[in-house]
Formats: sequence, C-alpha cells, structure tokens
Amino acid sequence: MSVLVTGGAGYIGSHMVHALVESGESVLVLDNLSTGFKWAIPKAVELVVGETGDEALVTRLIAEREVSAIIHFAASIVVPDSISDPLGYYRNNTVNSRALIECAVRGGVKQFIFSSTAAVYGNPAKVPVSEDDAVVPMSPYGSSKLMTEIMLRDAGVAHGLDYVILRYFNVAGADPDLRTGQSTKGATHLIKVAVETALGKRAKMAVFGTDYPTPDGTCIRDYIHVADLVRAHADALAYLRAGGRSATLNCGYGHGFSVLEVIDTAKRVSGVDFRVDRVGRRPGDPAQVVAQSDRARELLGWKPQCDDLATIVAHALAWERKLGTLENW
Ligand code: UFG
Repeated sequence: MSVLVTGGAGYIGSHMVHALVESGESVLVLDNLSTGFKWAIPKAVELVVGETGDEALVTRLIAEREVSAIIHFAASIVVPDSISDPLGYYRNNTVNSRALIECAVRGGVKQFIFSSTAAVYGNPAKVPVSEDDAVVPMSPYGSSKLMTEIMLRDAGVAHGLDYVILRYFNVAGADPDLRTGQSTKGATHLIKVAVETALGKRAKMAVFGTDYPTPDGTCIRDYIHVADLVRAHADALAYLRAGGRSATLNCGYGHGFSVLEVIDTAKRVSGVDFRVDRVGRRPGDPAQVVAQSDRARELLGWKPQCDDLATIVAHALAWERKLGTLENW
C-alpha cells in the first residue's frame, strides 16, 4: 500500500513527504517539477516526473504501487496569474484534477485528500469564516479549486471515494529541521518577501494599502505554519482510514495578524530594520481573512503546535538563509 503525493516536490507537498516517510508510510511522488525541486524530498522516495492529468501514467502508478490514498497538492497557485491565464488554471487545477479523481475511482483508491484554499470564500462577509459560509471566489484560481471540490464531492457520493478537502489559509514557515521550505523564485507571499528583505535579497518591500477598515489600516490574514498544515493532512488520512466521513475543513489557527504586525515581527526576529514603503492597495485583496478552525480540531483531533507568528517567521528566515547556500537551487 502506498500514498501517492501529487506536487510532492513543491513547498507544502515536500513537507508532507518528509512527514509521511517519518511515520513509516510508503510514498510515491508525482510532480512535473514546474515549481518543485527533486532535492526537496528524501532520496529514498521515488519521484515520477509527469502530469496529474496523464491518465495512462496515473492508472499505471496506482496499480503497480498499490496506491490506497492520494494527497493532491499539484496545482498552479498564483492568483494574479490565474486572472491573466484562466484557461491555463482551469486546465492544470480543474481538468487535471478531474482526470486524477477518475483514475482514483477506477483504481480503487480509498482515500483522497485535496488542497483547497480560503480563496473559495472570496471576500468573506464576516470573519472568522466558517466552512458553511458562502463560497464566492474572486479569481479563476479560487474557482478552479472550488470546481475540484465539487467534483470530489459528487464522485465521493457516486463512487464511495472518501475525501477530506482542506481549505488552506495563509501558509508560511518551513520545516524546523530545514530539510525543505518555501523555495519558489519571485515569490509574492508576505512572510517570504519580508524575510527576503531582511536578508538583503530585496532592497525594500511594500505594504499594499494602509486604509483598510482594520485597527492599523492594513490587511489581516490567518498565517498557519506549514508543519501544522501537514499535521492536518496526516490527521485527515488517519481519520479517513479509521472510517471517518468525508469532510471539508478550514486550515487556519482562527486568529489573524495585520501586514504591519507581520513586518514588525520579521524585523524583530531578524534584528534588521529594513526599508518598508507604504503604497496603494493591491487589487483584489480582501481586508480580513481568518478561519473558523474548530471543525478540523474537533473532527480530526488536529492539535497545532506552531501557532506563534515569531516561530513561523523564524523558520521562514532560517530557510531563506539556507536557500542562499544551496548550489542546485
Ligand atoms: N502584502 C504586502 N506586501 C507584499 C506582499 C503581500 O503588503 O509584498 C500583503 C497583501 O496585500 C495581503 C497580505 O500581505 O494583504 C497577504 O498577502 P499574500 O500575498 O501573502 O497572501 P494572500 O492573502 O493574498 O493569498 C493567500 C494565499 C493564496 C490564496 C489567498 C486567498 O497565499 O493562495 O490567500 O485569500 F488564494
């Protein structure tokens, strides 16, 4: 029995692969290496370079490696890119996922865990936002993920495929042992940008908008440590294997920080007072996105262990330093 991890060479997927190997699972990675890195996964893990939409390949892998569970990370994840290339996003995130789900059903896969996103909520009418609140994506990225949620739910009902859909909030940080981390080039995510600036990889950074209806005028997000997010996946797999019912769950801590709070933390943790410019709003940014997260805790027994912004930033910073020393990056 193996666990197939799509996108396992990417940021979150590679953390998952290390955790699965540590817990003694047999793991197989399918990744097209468009944004992932072979070195991000343990040497002993087999990496198949290919597409999740390649039905012949996936069918063969499921049969040959006796895949009983799929954890599906592989996706395009840049919101502005999805606006300029919606059809590319629907192909990679929705069409390829449809093929993967069909292969899973045909191949008798028992459990399916899917990486969804808080982007399915769009600009939430209230925070914290619950799984039962309206889903109104504001980008093709969010829509592409929501469509996969719908396909998975329908396939689950029709074919008995058990699934957990995890809606990620703002994922950040890195493996505390620094085996992997966020390695994307040209990243746009706040914590990554802040630690890059602290290390002098960027001369300065910008705060996008200081006139939001929040206490300090900057946007609030629920930042979750990647290690806790991986824990939620491991808990979801154990839950499904124990006969748990399919579920859709938020993955956030349930409290948020403003952009200025994050930047202050990055300055404090790094000890560097880097340059920060206050500029206009970035189009499409909701003022506040914070998870209601009790359902994942109750249903899966999920117990976050890194719910501390300074720890998240410290691990992101340590990984950023290490990244500067890697030859094959
Ligand atoms: N921000 C800055 N300066 C920067 C980068 C970001 O001020 O250099 C601000 C943004 O304007 C936003 C906040 O920091 O207010 C967080 O921005 P990120 O880009 O880090 O993250 P987002 O909240 O925009 O995106 C996250 C996920 C997406 C998901 C989206 C849905 O990373 O995958 O939430 O809400 F689609």
